[in-house]
Amino acid sequence: MKTITFVGNGNMALSIAKGLKDKYKIEVVGRDPKKLEQFEKNLGIRIDKHLLNGFDAEEKTILLCVKPANVEEVSLKISGRARVIFSVLAGTSVEKLRTNLNPHAVVRTMPNLAASVGKSITTLTGDEAFKNEAEELLGAIGKTLWLGSEKEIDIATALAGSGPAYLALIAEAFTDGAVKQGLKREDSMALMRGLFDGFGSLIQEIHPALLKDGVMSPGGTTAAGYSALEDGNVRSACINAVEKAYKKATEL
Ligand SMILES: NC(=O)c1ccc[n+]([C@@H]2O[C@H](COP(=O)([O-])OP(=O)(O)OC[C@H]3O[C@@H](n4cnc5c(N)ncnc54)[C@H](OP(=O)(O)O)[C@@H]3O)[C@@H](O)[C@H]2O)c1
Repeated sequence: MKTITFVGNGNMALSIAKGLKDKYKIEVVGRDPKKLEQFEKNLGIRIDKHLLNGFDAEEKTILLCVKPANVEEVSLKISGRARVIFSVLAGTSVEKLRTNLNPHAVVRTMPNLAASVGKSITTLTGDEAFKNEAEELLGAIGKTLWLGSEKEIDIATALAGSGPAYLALIAEAFTDGAVKQGLKREDSMALMRGLFDGFGSLIQEIHPALLKDGVMSPGGTTAAGYSALEDGNVRSACINAVEKAYKKATEL
């Protein structure tokens, strides 16, 4: 069994480790022994736990799961040249990771929150020699898509990385809409969950424009509701959301 070394023991590390634990030996490096213990408990298997301070990364396969602002600090605490670093850090360039951590190779990856249920869509870019390995590794938490440049992974971050939060806003807002019209909260929630579940399957098969045309009869209820969304500039707000998030990713 190959060993994967997680540096960082937060939410994303745990989600990915859950997907990998049956296929890889898991080692976790963190700065707080109590949090490492808790990570092991949450994962439900025995893992190798190490403190960050003084950790030797020589020839390790690292999954870097700290925050973008922690890169310099982490680099001061670990030694040795990793075989490869797979980084999940938003907006953190290959060059920055190379300069600070000096590994033999770097692959940037961008999973999303659905990693925790094995349904992430994870984008990848970086050292081509590790493309297959990256696809296999991140394939354990869902689908993967290799992109040709770091600009593209920053755009992908703004769509699929942040996307669960955008869709959560839509889900909550539509639920509130039904409550406003008099439907019970728990019934509205059940409807919203069913809607997203069915829609998740439909959108795999049908282009969004055709899906909309299929449900919108002339002068009907969907047309009335849909025009309210257009009046509210929802389309333009979505396009602006991706633009703002992309810009932010390039500033991290
Ligand atoms: N959450 C998402 O949906 C998502 C999606 C895609 C990518 N990402 C990326 O995943 C990364 C981790 O996010 P997360 O949601 O897992 O965050 P998180 O739960 O807050 O975990 C952050 C980890 O970084 C460690 N850390 C914080 N400050 C540190 C420092 N100064 N030195 C060393 N380690 C430090 C924390 O250690 P302690 O536990 O000791 O505080 C923790 O293990 C981020 O870079 C983010 O861009 C997240």
